[in-house]
Amino acid sequence: MPLVTRRALLTAGSAGFLVSAAGGAYAGLIEPSLMLDVTEYRLTPPGWPADLPLTIAVIADVHVCEPYVPIGRVQRIVETVNRLKPDLIVHLGDHEATSRKIAARRVPPREWAAAYADLSAPLGLYTVLGNHDWWHNADEIRRALDGARIRVMSNEAELIEHAGRRFWLCGLGDQLAHWLKRGGFRGEDDLPGTLAQLKTDDPALLLAHEPDIFTEVPARVSLTLSGHTHGGQVHIPHLRNPFIPSAYGGRFRYGHIVEDDRHLIVSGGIGMSGLPVRFGVPPEIVLVRLGQQTATV
Ligand SMILES: [Fe+2]
Repeated sequence: MPLVTRRALLTAGSAGFLVSAAGGAYAGLIEPSLMLDVTEYRLTPPGWPADLPLTIAVIADVHVCEPYVPIGRVQRIVETVNRLKPDLIVHLGDHEATSRKIAARRVPPREWAAAYADLSAPLGLYTVLGNHDWWHNADEIRRALDGARIRVMSNEAELIEHAGRRFWLCGLGDQLAHWLKRGGFRGEDDLPGTLAQLKTDDPALLLAHEPDIFTEVPARVSLTLSGHTHGGQVHIPHLRNPFIPSAYGGRFRYGHIVEDDRHLIVSGGIGMSGLPVRFGVPPEIVLVRLGQQTATV
């Protein structure tokens, strides 16, 4: 009698198929299209006044497209963010999906920007452009964002009044804005020029689509907010992901990173690029609460 019967093989094969089909459905449909987490961070980084509470809702890498991130998904993002009642809303770029593997149909920027127009926060809405925005439709995207009253920042700093105090919000130009024919990229980023606009000692925050700039961000900036990595898009603990789009591998993959007393938060974002899968990194809205823990003591 054979040790493994044909029936057992068929059963095991069927089970394997079902497991892989279920895994594929989860990674290709359930996690990217249906899940939406809110990930909250509470911190008072160096330079940020403990008695200055500020709540920031962070949207990143939505990569709007059909079928994976249609307008209905954008509306759910808007409803989720508004329910959080943030003081300030920022979007860290990569508004659209551009890969044909992801985007069966492009959603015109004026359509998704119109959905964002329902976002509401007392200090307003700010964004930077990401590499995908630059590579394809930067002018059209910028016009659509302008039309939706979302302030597009590119190497700019703005002094914002809040709770009787002031802070600087800086937005960096994209670090991978232009493909070079000989390989590599030329960025639109000008960190020294951006920081030179900080004419007062008020605390500063920086929006930078790609987190790699963090190695150059000085302690003058209390917190850097980045996206771009999608948390690796597929993350299995203890397994190295070679596809993280960063020169530093997994160093800035995801989450709250502190180096030399400087703080960076990397959002896993919402959408996808490259391949239409997310696994182990559910789409998320990030909520940053600055100064509040100390302020409420
Ligand atoms: Fe990106």
